[in-house]
This record gives sequence, C-alpha cells and structure tokens, in this order.
Amino acid sequence: MKSHIQSLLEQTVAKLKQQGIIPEDTDPRIQVDRTKDKSHGDLATNLAMMLTKAAGKPPRELAQLLIDNLPASSHVAKVEIAGPGFINFFIDENALAKQLQAALADEHLGVALPSAQTVVVDYSSPNLAKEMHVGHLRSTIIGDAVVRALEFLGHKVIRQNHVGDWGTQFGMLLAYMEELRAANGAESEVELSDLESFYRAAKVRFDESEAFATRARHLVVELQSGDEYCNKLWREFNEISLSHCHKVYQRLGVSLTRNDVRGESAYNDDLPQVVKDLDAQGLLTESNGAKVVFQEAFRTKEGEPLPVIIQKADGGYLYATTDLAAMRYRSSVLHADRVLYFVDLRQALHFQQVFSLARTAGFVRPEMSLEHMGFGTMNGEDGRPFKTRTGGVVKLIDLLDEAHDRALELVRSKNPDMDTATLEQIAAVVGVASVKYADLSKNRASDYIFSFDQMLSFEGNTAPYLLYAYTRVAGIFKKAEDIDLSAATIVLEHDKEKELGNKLAQFSEVLARMVDKGQPHLLCAYLYELAGAFSSFYEACPVLAADTAAQRDSRLLLAKLTANTLKQGLALLGIDTLERM
Ligand code: ARG
Repeated sequence: MKSHIQSLLEQTVAKLKQQGIIPEDTDPRIQVDRTKDKSHGDLATNLAMMLTKAAGKPPRELAQLLIDNLPASSHVAKVEIAGPGFINFFIDENALAKQLQAALADEHLGVALPSAQTVVVDYSSPNLAKEMHVGHLRSTIIGDAVVRALEFLGHKVIRQNHVGDWGTQFGMLLAYMEELRAANGAESEVELSDLESFYRAAKVRFDESEAFATRARHLVVELQSGDEYCNKLWREFNEISLSHCHKVYQRLGVSLTRNDVRGESAYNDDLPQVVKDLDAQGLLTESNGAKVVFQEAFRTKEGEPLPVIIQKADGGYLYATTDLAAMRYRSSVLHADRVLYFVDLRQALHFQQVFSLARTAGFVRPEMSLEHMGFGTMNGEDGRPFKTRTGGVVKLIDLLDEAHDRALELVRSKNPDMDTATLEQIAAVVGVASVKYADLSKNRASDYIFSFDQMLSFEGNTAPYLLYAYTRVAGIFKKAEDIDLSAATIVLEHDKEKELGNKLAQFSEVLARMVDKGQPHLLCAYLYELAGAFSSFYEACPVLAADTAAQRDSRLLLAKLTANTLKQGLALLGIDTLERM
C-alpha cells in the first residue's frame, strides 16, 4: 500500500511539473511513512514541505495542489492536510481486505516482486584448517537469511563461500607436518582427523621458532607455485576441514552446498595478472620490496598514506590481491548486479580500500554495486568476546549441543507428559531456532550479548515466543477443520481486525527493505509485531464463537494469512516452525 501511494505521488509530481508549478529539474525523494496515531490516517508524506523551496510556494498551499492533482485510487478513502503541510492518507478498508484476500491465494503471499537481479552473496567464508567456531556464526546465518529472502523475491542468487584455503596458515600446517615426519620417521602417518589440536600445536611452533616461521612462509610460496607434494597435503587438509564445515551447515539449517565453495585458491592463477594490470595502469609502487597501491582517499590518523599490499617482497600474494581477482570474476564472469559481503565490521577498511581500488583499476563494471554488510561481535555476558570458561574459542558444534540440551529441558518443563522422541524433535528445532533468532533479531552492525537464558525465554522478541505464537494460530485450524472457507471473504470491521490487516499488508515492504539493507532484524521485528497484532486481535475478536458464520470465516481467513506469513517469514530466516511445542 505504501508503494502504491508512493507511485500515486510520483504521478502527481509529474503532473505539477507539466503545469509548471514544480521546476522540471527537481527530483524529490518521495517518502511515505506509516502514522503512529491512526486518527491522522494510515500513511503520511512530507512531500509538500520538501518541495516548498523549489516551487516557491508555502507548504500547505502546495499540499492542496498535490491533493488536487492526485490520481483517483480505490485504495484511498480520504486525504487530508495536517499541521505545517503533511498530507495524510486514509486507506480504504475494503481495498485492504481485497488485497489480503488476494495474498491468501498467492504463493508469494501478495509480495510485490521487483525486477530480478543477479546477486552474489559472499558469506560464511571461514578460514579452513580450523574448526568452525562462534566467530563464524554471524556471517553464516545472517548471509543465509538474506539469501533466502532474495530468492523469494525472485532474484538470481549466487552463493560464494570464499573460504580461506590459501593463506599463511597452510605454510604453518605443512611445516609442522614435515617436522613431525622428520622426528618420527618419514613413514609415520600424521593424524589429521583432529585438525583443531594439530592447528594449535603448529601455531605454538610458529610463535616460538623463527626458523619454523621462515620455513612456513617458504612452504606457502611452494604451495602457491604448484609444488605437487605440498598440493597433495593441502588437498587432504581441505577435504577434512570442508566436510566438517558442511556438517555444521547441515545442523544449522544453512543452505550452502559444496558447489558454493569458491575459495581463495580458485583465484591463485589470476593473481600475477592482477599485479600486471595494476602495474600497466601505473598504480603500483615499491615499498620495502613489496608491491603496493596508495590511494589518495586512504590515510592513517596521522595523515600518512595507507597502502593496499598486493605482493610481498618474497613473492607471496595477500588477502586483498585475492579479493581484487574475486571482484573481477564476480563482475565479468558471474555478471553480478550486486555483490554482498557478510564479513566482520573489523574488515571495513579492507573492503573500502579494495572496492575503491577495483573501481579505479576498472576491474568491475561501474554499475555493479559492492556492499560490505558488516556485523559486530558476539559477546559473552561479561561484555567481552564470547569464550569458554577457560578462555578458549567456543566450537559451534558445542554451542548448538548446549542450546539443544537447554531447549529440551525447557520443552520438557512445559510438557511433562510428552514422550521422549517428540521432545527431542521439538528441542532440535527450538535449540537451533533460538541461537539463530537471537542473532538475526539484532541490528547486525551492533555487538550483542549471547545469553542462553534470554534466547530461550518465552517472553519478548525470541524464537520460543514466535514459534509458540505460530502454534497458537495454527492450532485454531485444528478446531475448524470441517469449515469450508472456499467462498469466505475477508471483511475488516473491528479496530483490531484493521490493525492486523494493516500489519499483514506490510510484509512486502519489510522484505524489500530487508534485502536492500541486508538487515534480517527488520523481518524479525516485523514478525514479532505481527504476532503481537494477532494476539490483540484474538483477545478482542472471538473467532470460532463469532456472531455470524460470515464473521467467523473472515476471521479464520485473517488467522490463516497470519499463520502463512509467520511460517514464510520464519522460513526466510532459515527457521522451521512446529505444529506444537
Ligand atoms: N576468510 C575471511 C575471514 O575469516 C573472510 C572472507 C570474507 N570474504 C572475502 N571475500 N574477503 O576473515
């Protein structure tokens, strides 16, 4: 409805331009907002105030001219001028009811589908040869929610799991492998199944011995220049590490597959070309033997120029070099319209630098949009990065196990007589849902405090609250199975019906904003409000005990659309619903 009013206003502005009331070259951003106080109508715009300067007319006079030229619409019952020149729109309830009725019959729930784009989404992207830990959670689930919503809206999404499979850490692991073999005899098999402790031991050697560190750096170069022995070991490492990642994805209900993996190594062969192309454009500078690019816009706080390092003195390439090659690939091979990077905010400067450099060097089509969707840190209850009691990193698998155990206790306490198999099934959904929802419901740009108690509470904007709300709505139909709704119509009479109807009609604009901004919390907040609007409606408006059959059926349809919207919305967040809990 909001976008409908917006387009009416666009047409109006065009008419006023034709009449010479607004200068041709004014291009106002037309903003339409929902009103807080319904006595001021349902939607409002400040357009008249925005145009007053360009048109040289007082805002209230301009507001009247806008209203006089507004195309007729069956959705608008009344238009009014308010205060200094706001225009308030009163939505026609019949039109709203019709819109909701149409949404019920539509597999996209009436959501407006934009023109389809190709969107590359870079997410999860852990560094391999390490087990997945809580630091990987946010990128993985926030990215996956945005991916699901983009696909629902009809976009072509290309997932890219840009795993770190090619960094210095591999030199370290290979060097440690060698050392173990030298000590234990060349024949001894090195145990790779426990990568985590292997990694830790290698790191200890790297930090304590300069000779080891030098050897490690050398082996990276060997690996990168295609040495067969190094490459074989490297493939073994990756296989083990990736299959572990995919176990975690499966457990989390994340849609990434092995086909979506395109790691840093995939760009290895392009890196010399990246250097050549930067050089040919005169962008490269030597600095202590390394090849770097200085960009005017990037300086330290002290005003010193800040480089992007492209190639080290020993010939090794860097994270930034690979990202430049990846951008070129995403632009010229994948033909992306947008590329979204779900990566920790601490990498903000890196992305600003490489985005800007890719544009300067002409590595990407100018119209391709590059967006760093940064996120903050997941902290423990002490406000510091989330750690185990002994200060170690928390493995994602362990975190999910604990969530599951706690969810099981919670569900058992609510249903003391439920059989174990059913309890386990419900707990499996509630545990994962709680961890995901707690994260998704926060603005991704802020840090947040991870708390099992909060995420498993039935009160507030939590997974248990929403899952339970869904079971309640869905439960109404269990008692209404015999009622034939095929000829039923939605009629909005009661205030609470209108409020619920208005909320339902907002699903479309919420999804549009969520994928535009890469912010799943907008969808979470919406679903929470929708559940609240349903609760108020259900308290005020008897459904099965309604006054007439027509009223009962209309309310059943409203409940049905609420259930569908909650289920679809949660599915877009990667969260399964339950029929009971
Ligand atoms: N592997 C990197 C890390 O763990 C994240 C990669 C993000 N994607 C990218 N194209 N740089 O920090």
